[in-house]
Amino acid sequence: MSMAPTHAPSAQHIAFIMDGNGRWAKKRLLPRAAGHAKGAAQVRQIIEACAERNVRYVTLYAFSTENWARPSDEVSALMSLFLKYLQSEVRTMRDNGIRLRVFGDRTAFSDEIQAAIALAESSTAGNDRLHLSVAANYGGRAEMIQAVQTWMAANPDATPHDFDERAIEAHLYTTDVPPPDLLIRTGGECRISNFLLWQTAYTELYFTDTLWPEFGAKSLDKALAWFATRERRFGKTSEQVSEASNPQKITSAQA
Ligand code: IPE
Ligand code: IPE
Ligand code: MG
Repeated sequence: MSMAPTHAPSAQHIAFIMDGNGRWAKKRLLPRAAGHAKGAAQVRQIIEACAERNVRYVTLYAFSTENWARPSDEVSALMSLFLKYLQSEVRTMRDNGIRLRVFGDRTAFSDEIQAAIALAESSTAGNDRLHLSVAANYGGRAEMIQAVQTWMAANPDATPHDFDERAIEAHLYTTDVPPPDLLIRTGGECRISNFLLWQTAYTELYFTDTLWPEFGAKSLDKALAWFATRERRFGKTSEQVSEASNPQKITSAQA
């Protein structure tokens, strides 16, 4: 393993693809819904661990635009869990400085879920310790299309040159959230599955075989230790990056 760069900044924003609930259940000869219940229960532990490690932003992929294609009893089980946790955790989030937001097209959810989302968002809106975003009925492609459509509607006289990266970013769900530093996908698949396609352009990607219901604080620390060894170059050379992060060294070397 390579050495950690001297001033490796810690991850300010971690995004999670919480995958492997179904396989966790299958291994135990349980219904898939039991895996989702265990996976949902696991979320609190991870949020607490992130808060203790001063992570300011956490984004969780809970339900993709493609997940509607699953068997209807599984979709219902996921919707029930979503509603249950929105309702049961709102007070804890409010009292612990957690701001909750839901990214995705919420109009597809039941009125009850939409109301619970609105209440959870409004009662935690003043919080700033940890910004928790749950991606639900979320797809990266749909998000970008929606952003372009919103921009076009607001700028009917615009020419193609008026459209730029800022125009898209201003209308993404993540508009006031920094891009993820680290993306963790559990469950062994090495793919993005339509999550935060725009925002992960320079995110460090961490894939682990650990299934989401078994991913705890220790697993998180392993991922963070790996992240600390990464040199984030953003297109520059390694030399440029280490000079910028360690100007002291340059001065003394030149002296
Ligand atoms: C992730 O676990 C949860 C959701 C997609 C909602 P899966 O249900 O995809 O678990 P596996 O991939 O089948 O094990
Ligand atoms: C991605 O997992 C979506 C969530 C974790 C919510 P999937 O299990 O749906 O992804 P694929 O289908 O294996 O790519
Ligand atoms: Mg899966």
